Amino acid sequence: MSPTATLPRTSARSEQLVAASSKNTLDPFRDIDWSVPVDDRAFHLPPELLSLYGTAPWEAMSEPERIAYSRHETVAMLGAGIWFENALMQIVLRHLLDIPVTDPAHRYLLIEIADECRHSTMFGEYMRRAGTPAYGPTRPVDLDDTSSGRALSYLLILAVEELLDFMNRATMRDERVHPVSRQIAKLHVLEEARHVSFAKTYLAEVWPTLDPADRQVVVDTAAALVAGIVELSLDGAVYDDLGIADGLAIARANPQYQATVIAGLAKLTGFLSDVGIIDEASRPTWAALGLVTAEPAASQHAGHALS
Ligand SMILES: [Fe+2]
Ligand SMILES: [Fe+2]
Repeated sequence: MSPTATLPRTSARSEQLVAASSKNTLDPFRDIDWSVPVDDRAFHLPPELLSLYGTAPWEAMSEPERIAYSRHETVAMLGAGIWFENALMQIVLRHLLDIPVTDPAHRYLLIEIADECRHSTMFGEYMRRAGTPAYGPTRPVDLDDTSSGRALSYLLILAVEELLDFMNRATMRDERVHPVSRQIAKLHVLEEARHVSFAKTYLAEVWPTLDPADRQVVVDTAAALVAGIVELSLDGAVYDDLGIADGLAIARANPQYQATVIAGLAKLTGFLSDVGIIDEASRPTWAALGLVTAEPAASQHAGHALS
């Protein structure tokens, strides 16, 4: 019997998400104005989100150099986005094999994959137009199909989606940012909200059904895996290409960047605290890896996680 067949809340949510998708799905090659060149008329990300913001190499750059650096770092982020979307599509495709076609989740997850195909072509188009190297992780995608593996996989999908959502929301609202970058961010926010909703509903519903041993595997390994995602989000080749000595180490040690990571993961870590995956025992590990502050913030998520 398929595990998803026993997840009524996930099925009901999928039905809503299918309806929402049919009302509001965008085509990046129709809904984004590609006639505007991807040039250095403006920053490509909000400057405060750039990994070197406020560091000595940042202070040494002229404004045009800062903007060019933002173009490279944005392309690296999009390249990582394509890698992440490839990984999550593989997870979702494997999950589909276990879901009866009569379950609304089957239809919704196919829509989600179609969304990711469009997103990756959109990210790729920006990269092709930006005149930088085609940055991106070269690591193979590791997949695990055990029951704890699937819960972990959706947790990692959620981590990527929340982190990108944080960057995208700041980008789409920022008038200092290049208009095409803002349009991409806005399209992504709109469609990813549905993916986040699916992943949260699935995780919250499947969590209590797992064996205690499977749950323990998730609790024990999630922090390191999320830290791996954060690590892949920065690409040392950006700093090397721009001749910024020790750029990757300086970026990782940058308190402003470290705060951005914690803020970018806040929706994920709030949700995981509500579900119980981050608890008193595991929180120090998350804090040591720079994923949460040492002290829990007052939960803004209580009551929503399991709805
Ligand atoms: Fe996406
Ligand atoms: Fe997604």
